[in-house]
Amino acid sequence: MQIQNDWLTNWFGQLVQVAGGQIGKLMGIFGLRRSRQSPPWGLMAVMLTLGLLGAIAWPGFTGQFEENIAANPSSETVELNLLMHVPEAEQWSGIVESFERENPNIKLNVIEGPSATNLIEDLHTSAFILGDSPYDLIYLDIAWVPKFAAAGWLMDLSKELTEEELDSFLPGDVDGGRYKGGLYRMPFRTDMGMLYYRKDLLEELNIDPPATFADLMSASKQLQEAGKTEWGYLWQGKQYEGLAAMVVEIFEGFGGFWVDPTTNVVGLDQPEAIAAVDFLVSAIDEGISPPGTTTYTETETLRFFRNGSAAFLRNWPYVWAEANKPDSPIRGKVGIVPMVHEPGQSSGACQGGWGLGINRFSDHPEEAIAAAKFFAREDIQKQFVMEHSYVASRKSLADDPDVTAKYPQYSQLVEILDSSPVLRPPIAQYAQASDILQRYLTAALTKSMTPEAAMTAAARETRSLLGTEET
Ligand code: GLC
Repeated sequence: MQIQNDWLTNWFGQLVQVAGGQIGKLMGIFGLRRSRQSPPWGLMAVMLTLGLLGAIAWPGFTGQFEENIAANPSSETVELNLLMHVPEAEQWSGIVESFERENPNIKLNVIEGPSATNLIEDLHTSAFILGDSPYDLIYLDIAWVPKFAAAGWLMDLSKELTEEELDSFLPGDVDGGRYKGGLYRMPFRTDMGMLYYRKDLLEELNIDPPATFADLMSASKQLQEAGKTEWGYLWQGKQYEGLAAMVVEIFEGFGGFWVDPTTNVVGLDQPEAIAAVDFLVSAIDEGISPPGTTTYTETETLRFFRNGSAAFLRNWPYVWAEANKPDSPIRGKVGIVPMVHEPGQSSGACQGGWGLGINRFSDHPEEAIAAAKFFAREDIQKQFVMEHSYVASRKSLADDPDVTAKYPQYSQLVEILDSSPVLRPPIAQYAQASDILQRYLTAALTKSMTPEAAMTAAARETRSLLGTEET
């Protein structure tokens, strides 16, 4: 308890003193130019502090940290800290036990953080800015890698795996860990967006699974009119990272794009991207998607789909196991197709996924590397997949008889990713670019701006962030 309080007080004090200056430095790292009028660093420092304290005060976070510190391992034991979002932190308990059994001199503290990826990212960012991150291992969303690598917060792990070893992982997961020639993340699990549908309902009305946006809208309407479902299509519309992950699939389906990472060309104000946003707005307007969509994350959309309120859901692979649990009202009634697209365009599956990076300032780099390698092992990823229905980064598990017997859809998921991956722009300024897009999408979805005005403004801000010319 005492340690927890000291830790908090120290962190708070330091943060208030140095955050203003450090934010300036960080803006420099990401190539952000100061405007002529100097930004209010003091105010930003206070806002960052409040945000950080809000997240730290989150009961799961403090409770877990206290518990871990109270465990107070013996002096010969090396203690590694790993911050992880709920509910995955809890799901790791089986493989963490396996790790500690094989490595009795290392204790791995998994500290629970909030569920939204961007909130965990903020916690890491604040800790690194202070130069005082307590986390040895960083569980990295694919979307954070360029920023964390560019800022110099992570160890380059290139020498830890041979090219041959890297070949045994799904290529998108390996590429997602690379930045400017270095490798900053050991692949753990992959993620890809897809469309879940209610097989039973479509069969009842003799409707084929949708392939195009028009199919999706018309199937939803038919099912709603026949009284088979309350809502048609559920998706993540809240202003957070999940909104950006979802919308890249809609952009792709309309033939549009966000930022081309090789040229930094911004596509948000192109007709295809505007049409994509128009589609999302009209899904709500036409009552296909619920009016509350702008408050939904993955969790809420899964809850409504699972309780039988909707016919279609865009989400990640973990939904399969949730939908098929023994107590699920839709057990055995769910199918999967790639996300729909316009005729002549292709489906997009947002490439998500997580892996372990090492804090470059960790006091225990060797043990942290050993841990990252352990969780990249095939047998350990298999254990995790068998316990929870995620998709592993190890390619071979797609043909593993135990895995495919338990999850008949597993190989289909890997194929969906393989055939239609869409990346969020892998650029160092990604967090800011995502924030811009999320804000303007929210303006369009809540009708405070038209899709065209919102995307025009989002494109302008993104170009200014990237320092590229107006087109
Ligand atoms: C999943 C994805 C991750 C993405 C997040 C958005 O966790 O793996 O890449 O950023 O969802 O909510």
